Amino acid sequence: MPFYQRLGDVPRKRHVQFRDNGTLLTEEVMGLEGFTGNESILYHLQSPCRVMELGGFEPVEREEWVPEQHTHLHFKTFDTAPEGDEVTGRRVLMWNNDVEISLCRPKEQMDYFFRNGEGDEVVFVHEGAGTLETNFGDVPYKDGDYIVIPRGTTYRFRPDGEQRYLVFETPGLITIPKRYRNEHGQLMEHAPYYHRDIHPPTELHTHRDKGEFAVKVRVRDGYQTYVIDYHPFDVVGWDGYVYPWTFSIHDFEPITGRIHMPPPSHQTFAGPNFVICSFCPRKLDFDPEAIPIPYHHSNLQSEEMIYYVDGNFSSRKGIELGSVTLHPSGLPHGPQPGLAEKSLGMTETHEYAVMCDTFHPLKLTRLAADLDDGKYMYSWAEDASGADDQAGVTSHV
Ligand SMILES: [Fe+2]
Repeated sequence: MPFYQRLGDVPRKRHVQFRDNGTLLTEEVMGLEGFTGNESILYHLQSPCRVMELGGFEPVEREEWVPEQHTHLHFKTFDTAPEGDEVTGRRVLMWNNDVEISLCRPKEQMDYFFRNGEGDEVVFVHEGAGTLETNFGDVPYKDGDYIVIPRGTTYRFRPDGEQRYLVFETPGLITIPKRYRNEHGQLMEHAPYYHRDIHPPTELHTHRDKGEFAVKVRVRDGYQTYVIDYHPFDVVGWDGYVYPWTFSIHDFEPITGRIHMPPPSHQTFAGPNFVICSFCPRKLDFDPEAIPIPYHHSNLQSEEMIYYVDGNFSSRKGIELGSVTLHPSGLPHGPQPGLAEKSLGMTETHEYAVMCDTFHPLKLTRLAADLDDGKYMYSWAEDASGADDQAGVTSHV
């Protein structure tokens, strides 16, 4: 999606004969938005339609939790038990028609291949490293990476060590914010990252094995399994603008203002009716009269979910690694009592957090009910001021 890439062999022109040891290859145009969006062209040893056997269909099941009261919420996710693999282990925490946000701590290896047929994915790797093996080639990843996987990518994870992810799935397109790009698509000088920070697949392995391979495809709000008789990574070459890639939160260049900069300055990705932002270590606001932490705000038409990744969150009462706060629409929020005063003179922050703002309300699952700390709403009360808290003052709320 970010810019033109090519791996392996492709013919001189598109839509002309192209052979591998005499066999005519099957050309697949994988395009978005009909034939008008970005596309890649892949050359397969087999027809990508070829199916040996239809497996089962499993609908996605989400058990909704509707809290009895409308309130700010805090979920402690760090100790959720590992389960499933990198796909089946995704446990939806909140969702709406635009985005589904899941926690994932896999404990099993995928013994099948996966393809999201109805949405783009962003997997934020909180902990762990490994390789995302795909039909576009290998995508190495490490902690701090956002792995952006466009719909239609066939993949499996090959993790190295323990893994902890925050996963976003959307029926829409994950894009780089328009205001960062010029009319030709290049990232402009004011953008917080550049093309060099975007890492496409590194190496293409063309598999020629025959056998039985299961491919699970997310479609129609469920998972359809297909059994095929050839390895799905049978691509000898591809080129185009659609492919999986990584971007590290550590490569996001934060912007500091003389007075406080609003959350959109931290925007990293755009989706339909939602944004994903990265809060990174940075110098804080430098006007002598600046208050270097956020002003209170009423996000009347958005829901604000923040996942705390790293740093000293001690000043937000009860916040810890892996905490998720949800500031729902219709309510004001801001620093807890005493923190604005305490922040004066602070010059830098060392925190990392990932935020997702949605412009339509989010629904919650039973998992959210299980992880809810039940008291976050009261953390703005006088006797919860945290006046004796440690030195750090969070730079985003
Ligand atoms: Fe906020």
